[in-house]
Amino acid sequence: MKLTTKLMATAAFLSATAVSATELEVTHWWTSGGEAAAVSEFAKAFDATGNTWVDGAIAGSGGTARPIIISRILGGDPMGATQLNHGRQAEELVEAGLMLDLTDIATEGDWANVVNPTSLLDACTLDGKIYCVPVNIHSWQWIWLSNKAFADAGVDTPTNWDEFVAAAPALEAAGKVPLAMGQQPWQSNGAFGVIAIAIGGQDLWNKINVDKDAEAAAGPEMAKVFEAAVVAREMASKSRVQDWNQATNMVITGEAGGQIMGDWAQGEFQIAGQTAGNEYECLPGLGVNEVISTGGDAFYFPKNDDPDITAAQKELAKLMISQEVQVAFNLKKGSLPVRGDIDLSSANDCMQKGLKILADGNVMVSGDEVLSADTQGQIEDLMVEFWNDPSYSAADAQAAYAAIIAEAD
Ligand code: GAL
Repeated sequence: MKLTTKLMATAAFLSATAVSATELEVTHWWTSGGEAAAVSEFAKAFDATGNTWVDGAIAGSGGTARPIIISRILGGDPMGATQLNHGRQAEELVEAGLMLDLTDIATEGDWANVVNPTSLLDACTLDGKIYCVPVNIHSWQWIWLSNKAFADAGVDTPTNWDEFVAAAPALEAAGKVPLAMGQQPWQSNGAFGVIAIAIGGQDLWNKINVDKDAEAAAGPEMAKVFEAAVVAREMASKSRVQDWNQATNMVITGEAGGQIMGDWAQGEFQIAGQTAGNEYECLPGLGVNEVISTGGDAFYFPKNDDPDITAAQKELAKLMISQEVQVAFNLKKGSLPVRGDIDLSSANDCMQKGLKILADGNVMVSGDEVLSADTQGQIEDLMVEFWNDPSYSAADAQAAYAAIIAEAD
């Protein structure tokens, strides 16, 4: 066989067997230490397939990143894949036909039976088709406590909200900030939601957020929630940081007694070499109402004409929900996996508490899943005003809140 023929045969063989080395730009807002460690597990797994993960991290919170993500897709400059939260954030993009239908790989991967709770998949489904891959369950319903801060203050680490409130004077006397809180709308809104569920209970929260019952929002039970929020506002009044992970760092260093924050905070404790039950404690539902809410993240894939891109998008989606990657990613992220058929015995005490609450079925939907982005935005704006203005009374804030719920969709 002539040399040229041999070379052509070799070239043909190589091109036929070469793994499609497709680049996908993936946007997300995971830029803290813990978040970056977790997202690198996705990147590592995707690169191992011969494709290339082009990291499109967007600094700031979801509130900063989401408008950028959505306008790029609407503006014809789509990324290969993007993080959004479970729920209704991509509703209009999916309805506009801009997002890749993943139903074929969801059927092949039996997601309907694998994903737990199935509400996570419902949030990805429109007209029977599936448009996102859920990757974790993050619950807001936690407070993280610094054992050092309470020891320095000469008091026991609290086991519930009332004990936490009672410990605030001792913390302040010891020069600590009782409650760490970043100064971004989603943070005060998130903390308010946790207080609402802990003090008002799940039924009241569902009546207001799922049923949009404005009377309940204006009622006496919710008045107790706003009074508790005034106490929390006072405890957080000396917290001067912006980002959520800076507030978490105040707990890590013992500068603050606690932080009400989703369990993504665990990634920060982990990066700082701290472990649950040693340097920090966690109280699900503020130690009052042990529940988890199914917040968290899903990935969406804007439609692309290039079949190689589409193939790589589907390969990434399958990877993200695979057993191996679910363990590697969620252990670093501090979140619970979206599938029940994996071994998480290596998860820390707090994750084990969350897994037990999930297994016991004490699960609530998250605000992102039941309120439109517009209604969420209005409540966030109210919370920014309320948390930053000590003269804003509980009664006035509750009246404004009830008016928003009356128009909520
Ligand atoms: C949430 C997201 C989490 C977390 C947090 C803070 O919206 O679900 O994964 O990272 O933002 O960035």
